[in-house]
Amino acid sequence: GNKIRNAKLVLLGDVGAGKSSLVLRFVKGQFVEFQESTIGAAFFSQTLAVNDETVKFEIWDTAGQERYHSLAPMYYRGAAAAVVVYDITNPASFTRAKKWVQELQAQGNPNTIVALAGNKADMVDARQVPAEEAKTYAQENGLFFMETSAKTAINVNDIFYEIAKRLLQG
Ligand code: GTP
Ligand code: MG
Repeated sequence: GNKIRNAKLVLLGDVGAGKSSLVLRFVKGQFVEFQESTIGAAFFSQTLAVNDETVKFEIWDTAGQERYHSLAPMYYRGAAAAVVVYDITNPASFTRAKKWVQELQAQGNPNTIVALAGNKADMVDARQVPAEEAKTYAQENGLFFMETSAKTAINVNDIFYEIAKRLLQG
């Protein structure tokens, strides 16, 4: 049968980690070098076919600026999935990602599928967060982990596809 499953998905992470860029890549297949910082949050939707089923993602791209932190629960409460994004060239963004994971585990829905995205994987020469460190952290915290690049598109569809598969299994 061709069922459509609606799934609310939220992106969380530090300013400049690349949340909007990942969404723009996934939804429109585009990348811009000078992506503007998100104000409040932005909404997108995109469907993904997995075998004979379709997942319709309702995506909330939140703002990383601290002044919007208090809005975040509106977006992660009731979310089927969350993508916590950091920038592999920015250790502070990895620290911020771990704070988001803690907040999700404390205040979110225990059934939310949480993915950790180490973004800007194209910038290997400027890497500051070892992939192994993030992978170990993800394993210890029940997340799944991928390094992504909104710029080159590496692992962008893949991370959403993996979320969709897990949603359909659950
Ligand atoms: P806020 O909305 O302020 O929370 O930031 P954000 O997480 O949405 O980051 P955004 O997508 O605006 O990206 C910030 C900057 O990083 C932009 O200049 C993007 O072009 C750049 N950027 C995003 N993803 C990548 C990537 O995968 N590789 C490279 N090289 N640059 C990226
Ligand atoms: Mg943004």
